[in-house]
Amino acid sequence: MRKVITYGTFDLLHYGHVNLLRRAKELGDYLIVALSTDEFNWNEKQKVCYFNYEKRKQLLEAIRYVDLVIPEENWEQKVSDVQEFKIDTFVMGNDWEGKFDFLKEYCDVVYLERTPEISTTQIKENLKNKE
Ligand code: CTP
Repeated sequence: MRKVITYGTFDLLHYGHVNLLRRAKELGDYLIVALSTDEFNWNEKQKVCYFNYEKRKQLLEAIRYVDLVIPEENWEQKVSDVQEFKIDTFVMGNDWEGKFDFLKEYCDVVYLERTPEISTTQIKENLKNKE
C-alpha cells in the first residue's frame, strides 16, 4: 500500500483544497492530512482560523479522499511523521515549491499546481469587502 501525506491549515474548506486532496490521493492508496493546530497557526503563521481544529478535522474526515487526519504541531515533525507512518510520497501545493526538498532523502516529494483564483485568504477578503 502506497501512503501519501500532506500538510496544511485547510480553514474554510474550498474547492482548491478538495482538488489538492483528490490529486494527492491519486498518488497512492492511503492519504494522511497533517492539519495545523490552532496554536501552530497562531504561533508560527500569525493566522487565526475561522474554524477551530476540531471543526477543520471533521470537515477533512468527511472527504472521501482523506483516510486519516493527524495534528501538525511544529515545523520539525515531518521527518518523524514520514518515518513513523512509512510514507511513500509527501505532497504540497506549489506555493511551497522546493521548500521541503530535504525530505527527498526519505520519500518522494511532489508539488502539485495550485487551483487558480481561490484561497482562504481570498474568501475572507471578499466577504469583508461585501460588508
Ligand atoms: N491549495 C491549492 N489550491 C488553492 C489553495 C490551496 O492547491 N487554490 C493547497 C495548498 O497549496 C496547500 C493546501 O491546499 O497544499 C492547504 O493550503 P492552505 O494554506 O490551508 O489553503 P489556502 O487557501 O492557500 O489558505 P491561505 O489563504 O490561508 O494561505
